[in-house]
Amino acid sequence: MHIGTTLTQFIIEEQRRVKGATGDFTGLLNDTVTAIKVISNAVNKGDLIGVLGSAGSENVQGETQKKLDVITNDIMIRSNEWAGHLAAMASEEMEEILPIPAQYPRGKYLLVFDPLDGSSNIDVNISVGTIFSILRAPEGVTEATEKDFLQPGTKQVASGYAIYGPSTMLVLTCGHGVNAFTLDREVGEFILTHANIQIKPDTREFAINASNERFWEAPVQRYVEECLQGKEGPRGENFNMRWVASMVAEVHRILMRGGVFMYPKDTKDPTKPGKLRLMYEANPMSFIVEQAGGVSSTGRERIMDIQPDHIHQRVPVILGSKNEVERIVSYHKE
Ligand code: AHG
Ligand code: MN
Ligand code: MN
Repeated sequence: MHIGTTLTQFIIEEQRRVKGATGDFTGLLNDTVTAIKVISNAVNKGDLIGVLGSAGSENVQGETQKKLDVITNDIMIRSNEWAGHLAAMASEEMEEILPIPAQYPRGKYLLVFDPLDGSSNIDVNISVGTIFSILRAPEGVTEATEKDFLQPGTKQVASGYAIYGPSTMLVLTCGHGVNAFTLDREVGEFILTHANIQIKPDTREFAINASNERFWEAPVQRYVEECLQGKEGPRGENFNMRWVASMVAEVHRILMRGGVFMYPKDTKDPTKPGKLRLMYEANPMSFIVEQAGGVSSTGRERIMDIQPDHIHQRVPVILGSKNEVERIVSYHKE
């Protein structure tokens, strides 16, 4: 029986394309993938192992942490801290960056992650995920600080997400296209199932939390209003709407069948220019979307061009099928 291309094989073949590669990057990806398998197992077992429910604590964003937010953060740290590939890590669930502990060797990469995305869905058994982004530590840096992380998304070496749905899948870009792997639980390997994914440029499906409508800016209100008018409106076609409240699930649907996802700028809380976080949600997802031929913007600028000024910075996000996102961007210009 032939098993197909494993993720391990795929990563090693990627490494061979890079002249002078030391294997550090391959090692780092392998450790992250191990963490994802462990998280997949915990998410899958759920209440059987008592991991659902609130942790009774708050993270830096003032959000109540779920037990699994804390557990998955810990799994990511433990899997990635020991091997000597990283200088430091940063996560949604940690206020400060985490330099690699002194007992371990330090390496040249930085890892940024959202250990459990969509965690409000965990107790109701809806898909959640893990998002990660890999950056290079600036040349000569051994003691990384937050400043070393503040690189625009265009500097990402790789990004990916895992989605814990009916199947566990891992979607990865190293800057030449997007590939998706499905976990074969019995074998314990991710197998390449979706090679070189391309997002359809046109779509009749959008995703937005419509309960925020009164807080949106005019261009987004106009876009959604035109979609809702369907065949009788200016678009002359009926549109479909979805909202899972797990960004991983929305992005995954868009990769598989096209669509637009928006968490736009709104006036709900004037201190927040958007809900989603630039460094561990918007940037890694934008890298994947662009590598699959889609577009990702705040409405006013390309997300991956933003110079971050804070590790937990928030940005408006509009991403997905090229022609629709470009239309929404053009409404922002009018
Ligand atoms: P997280 O669980 O990591 O805090 O992220 C949740 C995010 C994102 O995944 C999702 O698209 C959005 O928040 C949902 O927001 P609403 O609850 O406002 O719909
Ligand atoms: Mn998230
Ligand atoms: Mn999260």
